[in-house]
Amino acid sequence: MTKAAITGIHGYVPDYVLTNAELEQMVDTNDEWITSRTGIKERHILKGEGMGSSHMGAKAVAGLLEKTGTAPADIDLLICATTTPDYVFPCTANLICDMVGIRNVGSFDIQAACSGFIYALTIGTQFIETGKYRKVIVVGADKMSAITDYTDRTTCVLFGDGAGAVLLEPNTEGLGVIDSIIHSDGVGQNHLIQKAGGSRYPPTHETIDKRWHYVYQDGPSVFKFAVKNMADVSAEIMARNNLTGADIAWLVPHQANKRIIDATANRMGIESDRVMMNIHKYGNTTAATIPLCLHDYEAQLKKGDNLVLAAFGGGFTWGAVYVKWAY
Ligand code: UT7
Repeated sequence: MTKAAITGIHGYVPDYVLTNAELEQMVDTNDEWITSRTGIKERHILKGEGMGSSHMGAKAVAGLLEKTGTAPADIDLLICATTTPDYVFPCTANLICDMVGIRNVGSFDIQAACSGFIYALTIGTQFIETGKYRKVIVVGADKMSAITDYTDRTTCVLFGDGAGAVLLEPNTEGLGVIDSIIHSDGVGQNHLIQKAGGSRYPPTHETIDKRWHYVYQDGPSVFKFAVKNMADVSAEIMARNNLTGADIAWLVPHQANKRIIDATANRMGIESDRVMMNIHKYGNTTAATIPLCLHDYEAQLKKGDNLVLAAFGGGFTWGAVYVKWAY
């Protein structure tokens, strides 16, 4: 059966670096707390008037097209996972296509919070496996700084901005996306939420005064679910593909908290030298964390490597993808 192989990866983060030291000047926090509780040292922030997630997504896609020698005209479909779209509509995928010169193809957004890239990759895979399309781009792009309250020390230390994109193409050697699992449970809806700006609470002076346009997170509640579910779904995808920790070349985890990543790796029986980690540089970039990991570690990947990608996020949503690296 034809598989959907990742045949290229590219990532982008904006230039401005927000350090723990700078955050110490903004809120009552300190480098020791942030580092020991989260693993984060710095994050990149997109500065500049009128620039949204599409700006970073387009940079990632333009780099991907160049690296893979792909003409925009050859792309059949572009899917963008984002929780911070430029607009309510049109969708960010439409904007990215326009910016990089991809015309007249299907493009749409997926919103599954921090699991967005896992969801979008799972969806993109279907179009290749069925034979409908031959070149699909999956992007994860989030400008978390747009919805981060820089007076709230419990959330502002966590998030950063960035984007990553992969190219999916058919593979008949058994390489590519082998399996995927996506889950959700609305039990988490009030634990991690941007309350206003959607149809339930459109913007009003009151929603702004209540700071409802920012991320709200009940950190400890989310932490408990994240530790359990990211480990569970990783174990689930290993079990149903008869994989042990020794079979896995790399765990590619969503980067929300180093402690959650360590717990997942521990449950899977994977040593830290086989766990992709860049949370110290970028913080939590939501849908961009996993493709940014693949981008940073690309040179270390070998054809045939078994990768498990896993994420957990708002909703709650969570999932895992088992990939055999194709190049
Ligand atoms: O990516 C989507 C899914 N999201 C996640 O997976 C995130 C899950 N949650 C977490 O990663 C953690 O819960 C956090 C990193 C957000 C918080 O870590 P924690 O160990 O759960 O800390 P906490 O919220 O229980 O707070 C412990 C203490 C509190 O003080 P008291 O009440 O013990 O006096 C907080 O007020 O730390 C305090 N605190 C801070 N202190 C310094 C909270 N934020 C800060 C801060 N700097 N930035």
